[in-house]
This record gives sequence, C-alpha cells and structure tokens, in this order.
Amino acid sequence: MNILLIGGGGREHALAWKLAQSSQVESIRVAPGNPGIAEVPKCKCVSLDLNDLNKVADYAEEYSIDLTVVGPEATLVAGIADVFRSRGLPIFGPDKAAAELEGSKAFSKNLMRKYNIPTAAFKVCTDIESARAFVEEQGAPIVVKADGLAAGKGVVVAMTKEEALAAIDEMMAGHKFGEAGARVVLEEFMEGEEASLLAFTDGKIVVPMIASQDHKRVNDGDKGPNTGGMGAYAPAPVMTEALRIKAEETILKPVIAALNAEGRTYSGCLYAGLMIKGDSVKVVEFNCRFGDPETQVVLPLLDSDLAQIMLACATGTLDASMVQWKNGAAVCVVMASGGYPGSYENGKVITGLKEAGTMEGLVVFHAGTKTVNGNIVTAGGRVLGVTAVDKDIKSAKNRAYAAVEKIRFDRAHYRRDIAWRALKR
Ligand code: AMP
Ligand code: GLY
Repeated sequence: MNILLIGGGGREHALAWKLAQSSQVESIRVAPGNPGIAEVPKCKCVSLDLNDLNKVADYAEEYSIDLTVVGPEATLVAGIADVFRSRGLPIFGPDKAAAELEGSKAFSKNLMRKYNIPTAAFKVCTDIESARAFVEEQGAPIVVKADGLAAGKGVVVAMTKEEALAAIDEMMAGHKFGEAGARVVLEEFMEGEEASLLAFTDGKIVVPMIASQDHKRVNDGDKGPNTGGMGAYAPAPVMTEALRIKAEETILKPVIAALNAEGRTYSGCLYAGLMIKGDSVKVVEFNCRFGDPETQVVLPLLDSDLAQIMLACATGTLDASMVQWKNGAAVCVVMASGGYPGSYENGKVITGLKEAGTMEGLVVFHAGTKTVNGNIVTAGGRVLGVTAVDKDIKSAKNRAYAAVEKIRFDRAHYRRDIAWRALKR
C-alpha cells in the first residue's frame, strides 16, 4: 500500500510511526511532514499546496496512492474527502458535510438536541443583543463558544457574568476569530472529569479506541490558560467499562446514525470529548479527526494494523475484530516553547533527541521542529511529545520524564504532573 498522509504535527508523526509498522505499507508520503517524520522508515516528506485540493488529488493519482489519511480538521472541513471520493480515490476522513460536526458547533449542538444525544443545554446566538440577554438571564458560570474553527482557542469557560460578556464582545463585535465568531453558542457549565474517546468508523459501524485524557492547561495542577494540549495518557481510568459502553450506546452509535439520517455519512476518526460525573457521560465536543496529543498515547497501544483499519474505514468494510489493543499504558509529556500559548521564540537548538529516542519503550514525536544547518530547532508552540509505554501509568510516566530530562532547548516548558488524575485514583 502506498499512503499519502496530510499534516505535520505530533499527531501525524504518531500516525506515520504506526502506519510504517504495517507489513502492507510500502511507502508513506507526508505533506508537509516534519524532521521527526522524515526519520520514520518508509516515510518521505513532500511539499503540496493544501489550498488546491484538486492538485492534491492529482498528486495521489500520479503516485498511485492507495489510501490518503488526513490529520488536520481544516483540510477536512475544506472538503478534501469530497474531492478524493468524487475521483474514486480512497481517503480516511469525513467529507465536508459530515466534518461540520467539528466545523460548526451550532450544527453539532443542534444535531445532538434533535437526536437526544446527551450534552450541555445551550443556545445559539447570531446577534450580540440576544447573546448578552441570555447571559444576563442565565448568570455564571457559563461557557461561550465561537461557532466555527478557532484552533482550539474559541472557548471561554466564564466563571463570572462579566467574563462571559467580555468574551461575547470579543467574538461578536471585536471579530477575534473572524467569521468563526459571527455566531456563538452559549452553554450550560458542566462539572466533572473530561476524557477523550476516539473511534474508527466506516459510516456504518463505530469501533471505539481506548479512552485517553488530555491536559489542556499550560501549568501543573491544571492552572493557567488553555493550550492545544500539554500531555496525555491512556487508558484513562475515569472511563470505566460501564461508562465506555454507555458512551458507545448513547453517543457514538447515535451520532453516526444521526449523521446518516441527515444524509451526511461520516467515515474516519470520530473524536468525542466527554464530561464524566458519576455514572453520567455527556458530550463536550465532537472533532472530526484524531486528537493531539491523544493520538500519541492511543496509537502506541494499538495491537492491530492501522493501515488495514484505515483502508476498511475508507471503503466501508470495517469490522470490530480488526481493532485489538495491547495491555499496558502510555504517557506523553509535551515539551513546549517558553511563553506558549502566548508569544514565544522559534529557532532554539534541541539537544538530546537521539539519547532520549533510543531509550526502550520510548518515542519522541515531533510537533513543532525544523532542520536548520543540520540542527533540529524549535518551530512552534508545542515542540515535542515525549511518549513512553510501560506496564502501567506510573511506570510509563517515570519513563517519559526520564527521557524529558535528557532533552534540552532554551526556555523549554513542560508540565511535571501529566497523568495526575489517574495516579490520584
Ligand atoms: P471545546 O473546544 O468545546 O472542547 O472546549 C474546550 C474546553 O472547554 C473543554 O475541553 C472543556 O474543558 C471546556 N468546556 C467546554 N464546554 C464546556 C462545558 N459546557 N462545561 C464545562 N467545560 C466546558
Ligand atoms: N487534544 C484536543 C484536540 O485534539 O482537540
């Protein structure tokens, strides 16, 4: 199988690393990829204009690509899967209409309401007066979300009415997220513990992966501003077997059926961000792609052939028996640039990558790196995902931090408490 993989972050490094392990895979072209991906066997980084989807499809034809795998949501929401499918090219990822599940929070919330999928109560507002009035009426805490894609930054969990009103002003009058904030969703604040449940689906059946947990806040103890994710671990013990079954029956299967009923068949990876409290499980959000950094801890525990699963998702032939898991646990510690998620400097030379990467049970996934004059340097907020696999969370955590100690770059920042909720249990 020849694969084309779109993307160049830690998620795509994990996807490339796992796909390369398949005996069925001959080559993986990754656009744009990154220096870590360039080192993965069978992988070659290529440059493609992702704004011209027909050119991407031409490329897939020219290089006899058997399967295209799409990492980032923006490319899916732009409709890459529609272009590929219309040309008979197998692709892993939902088409434009189905990707609206992530692309529009208003669409996603209305769909959940219509099909009784458990989620926070909400109101969609298209004008600033009604948004302000709703906040005045409901009070705080309340959650303000930009409708469209905002790179994970379009959500404000407001603990006071003033914060909520300020967020509404920024999004709707200040156009902080452009068109994405022209509509906002105001949501009931949910208490509980979050978990990410990713699933493979071919549009007919849905097969959940093992549950994981992300760490969104930048500092230890879940303090400070939200980031794209400072670390993750799997499996997440908050997701008991009973809760997983509940999530599958009341959320995953119903949303795939709902999308089918709406004429928007969904295939690829479905990401459910869940809020768990006692025996209740509700949807925080859906994403139309693999999570990052969740993918970096979920895929190392997959015992099966990822290429075979993805091709089955793309061709409507998925079977639950194709997806098997290893025992043990994985922990990923994200090493970020000092200052992230605010402004930070790029170009810091990274040392110790070889020493860390050759440790047993360890992979260093690259998220924001670049090669300059033979050195690997920082080139993004999240720089590396240092991921360890071991028999349990505690051992995996120790192994991951032992590797982190070996890696250095100026102003490196990382959390020291990844997996704390699991270990507290
Ligand atoms: P989202 O981008 O929708 O996942 O939101 C980002 C983060 O905001 C989530 O991971 C939660 O931590 C938080 N959040 C979103 N919606 C709610 C809600 N209704 N209640 C409590 N927290 C929320
Ligand atoms: N880790 C959160 C996300 O991928 O959206």
